Amino acid sequence: MKAIAVIPGRPNSVHLTEAPMPKVTDIPGGRGVLVKVLQVGVDATDREINDALYGNAPTGCDYLIIGHESFGQVVEVGPNVKDIHPGDLVSCTVRRPGGSIYDQIGRNDITSEETYYERGINLRHGYLTEFFVDDCEYIVKVPTKLKHLGVLSEPASVCAKAIEQAYLAQQRLQVWSPKRAFVLGAGQIGLLATMMLRLRGLEVYTLARGKAPNRKANITEAYDATYVSTQETSMHDLAAKVGKPDIIFECTGSAKLAFQAMEVLGLNGALIWTSITGGNHEITIPADKINLQWVLGNKLLVSSVNGNRRHFELGIQALAHGELAYPGVTEQILTHPLAGLDQYKEMMRLLVEDKDALKVFVNVAS
Ligand code: BGC
Ligand code: ZN
Repeated sequence: MKAIAVIPGRPNSVHLTEAPMPKVTDIPGGRGVLVKVLQVGVDATDREINDALYGNAPTGCDYLIIGHESFGQVVEVGPNVKDIHPGDLVSCTVRRPGGSIYDQIGRNDITSEETYYERGINLRHGYLTEFFVDDCEYIVKVPTKLKHLGVLSEPASVCAKAIEQAYLAQQRLQVWSPKRAFVLGAGQIGLLATMMLRLRGLEVYTLARGKAPNRKANITEAYDATYVSTQETSMHDLAAKVGKPDIIFECTGSAKLAFQAMEVLGLNGALIWTSITGGNHEITIPADKINLQWVLGNKLLVSSVNGNRRHFELGIQALAHGELAYPGVTEQILTHPLAGLDQYKEMMRLLVEDKDALKVFVNVAS
């Protein structure tokens, strides 16, 4: 079968390859689920793997099949699989356990080992292929009526986890009841976070560079949130105007903004960092001032990456809830469909060059 792969360590090595067809019996214990891939989303992670910034092939293999945002339909299940049946629509989690105590209790998303195993990213093949097989533990069902948004399951899991982590950590404050949130960045993660924070009843301001009207602004406003172009209003000016936020969700990919956000967070607030910054930038920050304000203001920094099965379920629930509250809005994130795995060059070109591409995804089969 066809698959899109890279040679890890070799820049711009993305290519189409022929991979062996997986079988349910590849998974021990009769727990295999064979999935026909319908759609796979791609993001900056795939671009950076193709830039050879990170990414490793599975042991004994010289290529890595990329793609970690899966959506497909179950074709066959092993004899010990319960509650998942042929025909079901599913997504599949990304990270696989290592050996730490967190991995052993099903929390591989917070492994304490340096090496992590992620399908399509590190040491495990991904989903940009025609079929994949995995243990039923990692397969998450998507309701049939959410088929049009199924490819967003993985990004939604990342947002749902990050927000939940902040709320869990803020239980330290006993009666925390956040009112206002700033979302920094209006890519797919920023927009999904906007929706999820609105669903929790917050007043949300989503900040991005481009001036409105534009697609990001339209989607933000359709979620009943306020879009702010940072070319017109800086995050400092916004805080001076509407008040400091109780939550800042940072997903710009810029470490500079992640640190600057520390200067505008409100008292008892939570700053959530989700950007994965591969660069080497240095900046100067008002360290004494921030230190003082953070200590006197009891502020919290929560960093979050990846999501495990429960976060996928939360993300999919949020997508469903979002469809009811804001019908037809979330699908506007799905801007750039590609017809088939053969389009791998165009896929990378869009990731590299097209700044309007909110979401690039490959329609592998229908
Ligand atoms: C993925 C996460 C993953 C992270 C680090 C992100 O692009 O969405 O699932 O944990 O990269 O590799
Ligand atoms: Zn990703």
